[in-house]
Amino acid sequence: MRVLQVGAEVFPLVKTGGLADVLGALPQALMGAGADVRLLLPGLPAIVDAVLHQKVVRDIGPAFGAARITLRLGQMPYSHVPVYVIDAPYLYRRGGSPYQDAKGAEWADNVQRFALLGWTAAHLAAGELDPSWLPDVMHAHDWHAAMSCAYMTAHPPTQAAPVFTVHNLAYQGLFPPGDFHLLGLPSRYMAATGLEFHGQLSFMKAGLKFARRVTTVSPTYATEIATHEFGFGLDGVIRGRGGDVRGILNGVDGKVWDPEHDVGLLARYTAKDLSGKARGKQTLQAELGLEQRADVPLFCVVSRLTSQKGLDLVLGALPGLLRQGGQLGLQGTGDAALETAFQAAAQANPGRVAVRIGYDEAFAHRLIGGADAILVPSRFEPCGLTQLYGLRYGTLPVVRRVGGLADTVVDAGDDNPANTGFAFDAATPAALEHALQRAIHAFRQPERWHRLMQRAMAQDFSWDGAARQYLTLYEEIVAPDVERAARPLLQTA
Ligand code: ADP
Ligand code: GLC
Repeated sequence: MRVLQVGAEVFPLVKTGGLADVLGALPQALMGAGADVRLLLPGLPAIVDAVLHQKVVRDIGPAFGAARITLRLGQMPYSHVPVYVIDAPYLYRRGGSPYQDAKGAEWADNVQRFALLGWTAAHLAAGELDPSWLPDVMHAHDWHAAMSCAYMTAHPPTQAAPVFTVHNLAYQGLFPPGDFHLLGLPSRYMAATGLEFHGQLSFMKAGLKFARRVTTVSPTYATEIATHEFGFGLDGVIRGRGGDVRGILNGVDGKVWDPEHDVGLLARYTAKDLSGKARGKQTLQAELGLEQRADVPLFCVVSRLTSQKGLDLVLGALPGLLRQGGQLGLQGTGDAALETAFQAAAQANPGRVAVRIGYDEAFAHRLIGGADAILVPSRFEPCGLTQLYGLRYGTLPVVRRVGGLADTVVDAGDDNPANTGFAFDAATPAALEHALQRAIHAFRQPERWHRLMQRAMAQDFSWDGAARQYLTLYEEIVAPDVERAARPLLQTA
């Protein structure tokens, strides 16, 4: 089974969220399960600079406003996963994030930047750019890669089957309808049956409409996105795909997140010997300027600060958390209002609340490793990875029962032997505060807390299971014994 994985970010080279963790780990897991996998990535500076042994496989020439585009094949550092890099300096070699400039504004030419990603995926899938490697499946992730599904449909006959994974329906890649002519697609695609979405051009819809299968990153989110409440206006399109929509839960990359081997931790630990975790908590409290007390429950947050993540609930529940003797350590970046509010909370509660605004991968490991519990009170959460890291590190998750959080954290009522964390339903500070009370109550019973930690750490969220499910899904849609042949390069837009 040959699979091309297409996305805009990948750990450890470019990361704005969990999508990068998935694109870092999934190809390796699929390879471990016997698939022949290659990645396709845009040539962002950190990618062009780090991919090993790059060789030109095709000069694409000018397209999408770029004068010169070259497709190279190399290897990911560390994992050695083969990776195609689209080197288009005019479109990709710039600072800032993959999606926004340094001031946080969307790049004005995102329509071309991500159309090129999709276009290249489709032409690779057709065997036109590298005839020596013809994929059976082209698997695109999020709106950034979704146009591949439209291009593959527009230029039949591509034998590869397109699969599209929704990591977050809130980000849809919407552009003014006047940009449609930049895509080089027949005009019938700019219709409600195609990419048109309330008068705008939607890249997300390209994936939802034209992929052979649509997946998302947890079973619960797969049912939620078919509802008005979670569908961001696309629930009708998703319902229209019926049984083609599946939820496959993300895993944890055990090479990156494992308390027994985590070089980022001062003292490593296992479920059997948790002494390193206690030492980590002490050092973390010192590092954050919190009172160094083992008997005080330390809650942490590692998150983008956006309305999705429900962190306003944490602000609302904070007085209650502090009244009950808890501490809070937060690492995050995002909305200015949330950053300011958390900084003010830290200033008002020295020694008890510590806030670090910014993005720091190494610190995220120390924080999750040293804290007693991790808060993920999201309004919606397609999968969520930090609660999985929390489980693995014996840092008990306190989560809202939505999306992947509902699928991964067990809270079947006090003292249920299956519990691995604390869950609440209503998106209100009072509901979170009640869950925090229950967590603090459990923390004050060391034996009970210890049992919960052991159970949490014993959960298996490895990527192997997810990889097997993806392979089963691919096998459903790949025609057996099809003659595969390369075709000449199509006209570029
Ligand atoms: P999302 O993708 O919606 O942001 P996930 O929980 O799936 O949520 O993934 C978030 C990823 O980003 C995790 O790997 C988490 O550790 C990381 N992360 C988020 N914010 C920060 C931060 N400020 N510093 C370091 N890592 C962060
Ligand atoms: C998105 C979602 C998050 C998910 C991640 C990886 O960013 O917000 O819930 O874990 O993608 O799939």
